[in-house]
Amino acid sequence: MASSVANLNRSNDTYLSANVFDLFSLKESVVVITGGARGIGLALGFAIAEAGGVPVMIDANGQPHEHFYILQKMCPKLKLFVSDVTDYEKLEKTFGEIVSEFGRIDGCITAAGVCPDQPFLERSPASVKRCFDINIAGTFFAAQLAARQMDKQAKQPSSSPSSSKGSIVMIASMAAHRASKGQFTSDYCASKGAVNSLAKALSVELAEKAIRVNTISPGYIMTDMTLAISDTRPGLAKVFVDDPPMKRMGDRTDLKGAAVYLLSDASAYMTGGELLITGGLHAGLYEEVA
Ligand SMILES: NC(=O)c1ccc[n+]([C@@H]2O[C@H](COP(=O)([O-])OP(=O)(O)OC[C@H]3O[C@@H](n4cnc5c(N)ncnc54)[C@H](O)[C@@H]3O)[C@@H](O)[C@H]2O)c1
Repeated sequence: MASSVANLNRSNDTYLSANVFDLFSLKESVVVITGGARGIGLALGFAIAEAGGVPVMIDANGQPHEHFYILQKMCPKLKLFVSDVTDYEKLEKTFGEIVSEFGRIDGCITAAGVCPDQPFLERSPASVKRCFDINIAGTFFAAQLAARQMDKQAKQPSSSPSSSKGSIVMIASMAAHRASKGQFTSDYCASKGAVNSLAKALSVELAEKAIRVNTISPGYIMTDMTLAISDTRPGLAKVFVDDPPMKRMGDRTDLKGAAVYLLSDASAYMTGGELLITGGLHAGLYEEVA
């Protein structure tokens, strides 16, 4: 039976020796990133390497963006594993290969995603299913495979470089909270809502294993994905720049600190949370009224 008296740890001076730069360190941490061949996933790979960690990329596309090779120079251990997050058997094999080669998994960022843009009444079952498979099931499977390994490590004598046994960071979206102006992204919005709900459920279920689960929900961020959208629909470029109250589009730089924070001991007491990085757009629109 649970005791009615709390076993309170009365020491309150730990913070005196906890240097903030040490808290943000990812030294020796191995972090798997799905969708790491380009875009947000690749940029967060730079953040991890700069913080002392080792990023390991998984992507369905075996031909990474040229910036991947800059990262590889900085972090020679960097490797891209070609795998599809919707193919569970292949993905399980890929995680096995990663553990054989890198020995452990301390963090996982799920950034693989697609964003179909088509009116709701025209969406085909096959295309909707593909969006849900990649954005929801792919996130679920990657998180599950990472958490299994983190749990295994926690039971081994060699402890993790971090005080938490693992940290999972899912890339959701502002689209989980509001419709994307001028875009037809019904299934995408639904999928990102599901990612946030999944993270909340896992944060509770995995807390006793000291595995933390949080999400980052970016607003409009300049990547090849949003560049391609702007090329085909120039009107949207104006929305991307003018709608955020901060009156600019986000850059991937704006996400780097958040990812390192959530992966590191700096966020040791944060789980089930969401960092909305939108230039203020999730909070509202600023429009001058005469
Ligand atoms: N760019 C933005 O403005 C923005 C805003 C909010 C959320 N997001 C989210 O951030 C994530 C990354 O977006 P991005 O802009 O970098 O896109 P991106 O298209 O540049 O990169 C996505 C990567 O995921 C990979 N991928 C797609 N399907 C896959 C699969 N089945 N298996 C493995 N890899 C797969 C792609 O090959 C690609 O390298 C996505 O989940 C996206 O929804 C992006």
